[in-house]
Amino acid sequence: MNNHQSYQSFRLVQIRKENSATNSLIFDQPLIDAQPGQFVMVWLPDIGEKPYSILDCEPFSIAVSSVGPFSKALFNLPAGNRVWVRGPLGQGFRLNGSRHLLVGGGYGAAPLLFLARQACSRKNEVKVCLGARSAGDILMTDAFKALGCEVFITTNDGGLGEMGLVTQAVDSVLKHFKADTLYACGPVLMLSALTEICKKDNVPSQLSWEARMRCGIGLCGSCELDEEVRKSAGMPVGWLTCKDGPVYINS
Ligand SMILES: Cc1cc2nc3c(=O)[nH]c(=O)nc-3n(C[C@H](O)[C@H](O)[C@H](O)COP(=O)(O)OP(=O)(O)OC[C@H]3O[C@@H](n4cnc5c(N)ncnc54)[C@H](O)[C@@H]3O)c2cc1C
Ligand code: FES
Repeated sequence: MNNHQSYQSFRLVQIRKENSATNSLIFDQPLIDAQPGQFVMVWLPDIGEKPYSILDCEPFSIAVSSVGPFSKALFNLPAGNRVWVRGPLGQGFRLNGSRHLLVGGGYGAAPLLFLARQACSRKNEVKVCLGARSAGDILMTDAFKALGCEVFITTNDGGLGEMGLVTQAVDSVLKHFKADTLYACGPVLMLSALTEICKKDNVPSQLSWEARMRCGIGLCGSCELDEEVRKSAGMPVGWLTCKDGPVYINS
């Protein structure tokens, strides 16, 4: 039995380059009981501890975009080194129905790929909209296609796929695809726009929210969303991203 709040040590065995700023880190053991959309707290001694979505559980993998001090250290960690991990933590996605629309912004693609693997193994229909600033920032397209998902890409500069925001692609997919559920992970602005689209089109949603985390287990209160965001997305007062989320289910 795995105690999800205690630290488990994992050895990094493989590094896969996803794009210029993102590496997938593949470790030496499975992460027991992990569900798509859950996260882990990764601790690097003397550097710190931060949350990362689970990309796969067998073997345990995460995708890391290098944007600041902690992620840079993790991104540059040489194979053979160890990290210390608490998890799986939080509430993940729950497959609902058999026609799924997955929407990812940036590294938000990582937990959705884990979810797509689960859905495709059930022979469900999966469409995926991926958005990023430019072609070099798009992640994991081939991995989604290899599973049999239909993928729609948008970039802000039009360097790959349709030019514009990923929400435009979602709007047009929903015109001809009756999704049982929309699942998404990405920046707050994208999730807020998707909340409105799902209300308008009456589509059940499961959106994975991001907030600053410290304890990761519901004790410190640092991961509450801004009141305005929380209200418009429909969460109750006191909803904690680490314990009650990161996925908020609106069915
Ligand atoms: C539930 C959850 C799941 C997460 N999953 C992942 C994951 O799968 N992969 C991953 O790489 N990160 C993930 N994160 C973010 C991660 O926890 C760190 O916040 C991130 O790696 C940056 O930490 P840092 O200390 O390196 O940079 P910080 O010092 O926190 O940030 C440095 C600068 O970069 C900006 N910044 C932070 N994140 C981004 C970003 N994504 N793109 C552009 N600028 C940014 C900050 O605003 C700041 O200005 C997740 C966070 C949460 C809450
Ligand atoms: S990170 Fe401490 S309560 Fe959520």
